[in-house]
Amino acid sequence: MSRTVHASGIDMAVDERGMGEPLLFVHGFPLDATMWERQLDYFAGTHRVIAPDLRGFGKSGVTPGEITMERYADDLADLLDALGIRQKVVLCGLSMGGYIAFAFWHRHRARLKALVLADTRATPDTPQAAGDRRAMADRVAREGPGPVVEQMAPKLVGSATVQGNPKLIERLRAMMLAAPAEGVAAAARGLARRQDWTSKLSEIDLPTLVVAGSEDAITPAEGMRELAAALPDARYVEIPGVGHMSPTEDPATFNAALADFLKSC
Ligand code: MLT
Repeated sequence: MSRTVHASGIDMAVDERGMGEPLLFVHGFPLDATMWERQLDYFAGTHRVIAPDLRGFGKSGVTPGEITMERYADDLADLLDALGIRQKVVLCGLSMGGYIAFAFWHRHRARLKALVLADTRATPDTPQAAGDRRAMADRVAREGPGPVVEQMAPKLVGSATVQGNPKLIERLRAMMLAAPAEGVAAAARGLARRQDWTSKLSEIDLPTLVVAGSEDAITPAEGMRELAAALPDARYVEIPGVGHMSPTEDPATFNAALADFLKSC
């Protein structure tokens, strides 16, 4: 159940539960905080879990135009202030949430205890991909999130989910289709201009868990393996048979890997 917190000049919807070390979950594009349901249920027994809808997604306020990864990162820092969280946090980001995690590390390093990078990448869009993304943003602003959902849905999950969990696929589709068009368009423009973190990876001296779905068609496991190898203090976990949405496709394995990592850092 989310509540509304005023932070960073907008009303931000946030699901916050439990007590203990703060664990901040940052969703992917074009999703919302409910994608972390199984993680929130599991870790609320041991941690203070915090899962916001990012600016322009879910029930949070929308700012049309272009929202950079840096803006989302600053929103998260402001949200932690609004919640009175001074303790260092473990930030767990999926895909776009991972791009935001890099920006958060760069701008708010002192607030981090550890990172979890799930199904993401450190590299930016190619010029071709950035152009396509901007064109898609304009289309979404006119037509709603439908076109981006049609583009992403077939690539989102792995074969085990396609065969065994059609309800999850429906839920993810509904989540994406419910996203505010202006919020999705603004994020897509920000994604198209995100920076390349590759040369900075060796400076990220935080314990980091890197989680990949073995069948991820959006951020392939091979790239995630390279990402983990370039980080000074990373642990790599590959979850077999799942795709880009590893925390929702195989929550038991994802949660076990995260619990194990949290014990070690
Ligand atoms: C995501 O899941 O956040 C997106 O796939 C990110 C992207 O499109 O690069």
